[in-house]
Parts: sequence; C-alpha cells; structure tokens
Amino acid sequence: MNSRVKGKVLVAAGGGVAAMKTPFVIRRLRDAGYEVRALATERALAFTTKTALATAAGSRVATEEAWFAASGNALHLELARWADLLVVAPATASGLARAAAGLAEDLLTATITAGVPKVLWAPAMNPEMWHYPATQENVSRLRGWGHFFVGPEYGALAAVGEGAGVGRMSEPETIVEHVHYLLTPKDLEGLTVIVSAGPTREYFDPVRFISNPSSGKMGYALAEAARDRGARVVLVSGPTNLPAPWGVETINVERANEMYEAITSRFDKADAVVMAAAVADWKPAQTASQKTAKKPGKNVVELLPTPDILAELGRRKERQVLVGFAMETADGRQRARGKLERKNLDFICLNYPTKEGSAFGGNQNEVEMIFPDGSVVETGRISKREVAEAIWDRVRDLIRERNEEGARNAQ
Ligand code: C5P
Repeated sequence: MNSRVKGKVLVAAGGGVAAMKTPFVIRRLRDAGYEVRALATERALAFTTKTALATAAGSRVATEEAWFAASGNALHLELARWADLLVVAPATASGLARAAAGLAEDLLTATITAGVPKVLWAPAMNPEMWHYPATQENVSRLRGWGHFFVGPEYGALAAVGEGAGVGRMSEPETIVEHVHYLLTPKDLEGLTVIVSAGPTREYFDPVRFISNPSSGKMGYALAEAARDRGARVVLVSGPTNLPAPWGVETINVERANEMYEAITSRFDKADAVVMAAAVADWKPAQTASQKTAKKPGKNVVELLPTPDILAELGRRKERQVLVGFAMETADGRQRARGKLERKNLDFICLNYPTKEGSAFGGNQNEVEMIFPDGSVVETGRISKREVAEAIWDRVRDLIRERNEEGARNAQ
C-alpha cells in the first residue's frame, strides 16, 4: 500500500447484493490510510447493515433517514464538500440512470449533483442489465462528465443458477488501487519510464534453465507507483506469478537476451529506466533442442556471460536517468559503488536479499540509495511500494534538475 497518499473518501453502497462487500472496501481504504465516511441508499440496507458499514468506517452512516433528520445542515452539501472522492460500490443500473439523468431525489444523487469533486463507480449487476442500451448510454454520459469506472468484471454471479458473466463488482483491492490512482498527485506526468522486473531463465534444454528466486514484487511496485503518479510505464518482466498491472504496458520475456532487446529498442523514447530485474549473469553456451537424457557420471555445462543490459544503457545514455539495483551478500557499499561507476548510473539501490525482512519474495525491503557524489540515503525497512515511491522522488528531482539546467543553457 502507498501510505503517503491521503484523502477523504466517501463510500456509497447501492442496492445490490454486492453491498455485502462494501464494508470490506471501506476497511481496505482505512487500512491504506484514507479517511472514510459511508453512505447507504435505502435499498442498500436490504443487503448490508448500518452497523456493518458504521463499524468499518468508524463513524455514523449517512442514510436517507439521517438526511431528513438533519437539523439545519444540508447533509448532501456537507458530504460533497467534505469528500475528495466518492466511490459508489456497488453501483446499480438504477443508480447510474438516476445520476446520468441529473436527478437529486435521494441522498446519493443529491450528493453527486452537489458537486463532489470526483466519482468512481464500481458497477455490479446482472450481465443483461449491464449490457442494456440505457445502462451503456448512462455510463458513457457519466464518463463524458469526467466520472471514472472500475469493472464490472467477468466472474461468478451472486444469484443461484445465474452462472458467470460480466457483472461482478471488482474486488475491494482493485477498487482501492483505482482510488490510489485517482488521488495521487501526477508529478511524473509526461514522462515515459521503463521498469524491469523478475528473474530471467537461461535454458540449457527445453525444460531446464538457470534462474533465481526473484519474485518481481519490487519491479511491479515500481511500475504501479509510476503509473499512479502519471508516467507512461513500460514494464519488461521476466516470469513471475504476479498479475500484469492495469494501465501499464507489460512485455513478458524469459531470457536475458529478450530483455535486452525489449529494453534497448525502447530506450530512445524513455526518460528513465529502473532495472529491478535479477538478470541471470550466465547462460548455457548451448541450448539443446530436445530434453537431454539423464546419463551416469559428471555432466559439465559450459556457460557464457549474458549481455549486461544496464551497462549497455549506461554507454548509450543521453538525457535518461538510469537506476540500478545491487543485491549483495557482503561488501555491499563498495561493490555497489563499483557498479554505479562501471554502468554509468545516476544512482544504485543496494539491498541485501539474505537479510531478514528484505528477502526475495517479501513485501518489504530496506534499500540504500547510493549516488555518484558519495551520498547515501537509507530508506529503513518499509514496504516495497514505499521504496518505489522514494526511488521515483529522486528520479523526478534529477529530471527536474536536468530540465532546469537545459533551460539555463539554452538562454
Ligand atoms: O548483476 P549485477 O549485480 O551487476 O546487477 C546490477 C544491476 O545491473 C541490476 O540493476 C541488474 O538489473 C542489472 N543487470 C543488467 N544486465 C545483466 C546483469 C545485471 O542489466 N546482465
């Protein structure tokens, strides 16, 4: 989670069976550091309860009843002015229709027409209702007014015997990711960045390879953070178990040579490259076309070096900011400084995969950012997402400095 994004989110439950999940959406948003208030339409309360919503939100729920009971203060205006973002989860066909018609007859639509700054709809309904022309037109109308949508997704539907289809509300985690995106300041807007992630596989026959336990989590966190901050992101990923992040151009590769091609061919258009991939240093000299049969005794595999992608980028670089990772088990700083210099990097992120809490596959990391002038910034042990944010802060500053310098030289 990105603990640095803060904001006020009003979560509204519409009248559908997915309202059972609204308390989870609220809970996840609060865990991520948002201030949350809940609103429930009258029909929503047939599927969830005020108590469940209030417990998740830690405050009283805004309901029709509360609206009319309000003494003097107009609750719809207060909510619209309080919230940075309204999330309607679940959004029903009727809720979308009422909003698209500009109605303000219930607390939800009155709050929308009162000018809440941003609206994110998470629709959930039966696929026929979703595909019905009126619903689709209402969605495009709302989009045209600047409203945002997440889902609905394909999946099992709630009603018995309905099977699967497009109509399922996006999972709470996905909704939270979209909230992050909408509330994150876009300080990397206009930049194109390339991030590499995961291990590579160097095959010696069709079913055997040399690799390492890199999970790809650090690289994926970097890609998602840059996307949320407005960059155009190309993620070049070795094999991982992670889902491709939305809003990111993901290129899947296996071998170091493929990663080299994917990155070097796009380098001219990039403003920054962060190489978080654990690229294999060697590859078998020969790859057998068939599986090699087991034979008794010693078997020797001849290895050749793989291309050093980052070193090549360091040779080619003009304006690009180049960031490397150094995973060391001993003599960390000295070795990292060597790589920083040899590969002509702007900075290098030193981490220790054998240290507790920074291991391959974990959700946390502890990084020392080492700069050419000898300065070092230590992040302490924080989530990989927070490490990613700290790295982009530096990249952003370096690009700004370069642009300012360029502007001064042009005068
Ligand atoms: O393997 P090494 O310790 O030199 O890795 C340091 C940095 O260089 C990492 O950012 C890694 O992604 C990158 N690298 C590369 N091509 C290689 C090996 C490493 O770009 N063949």
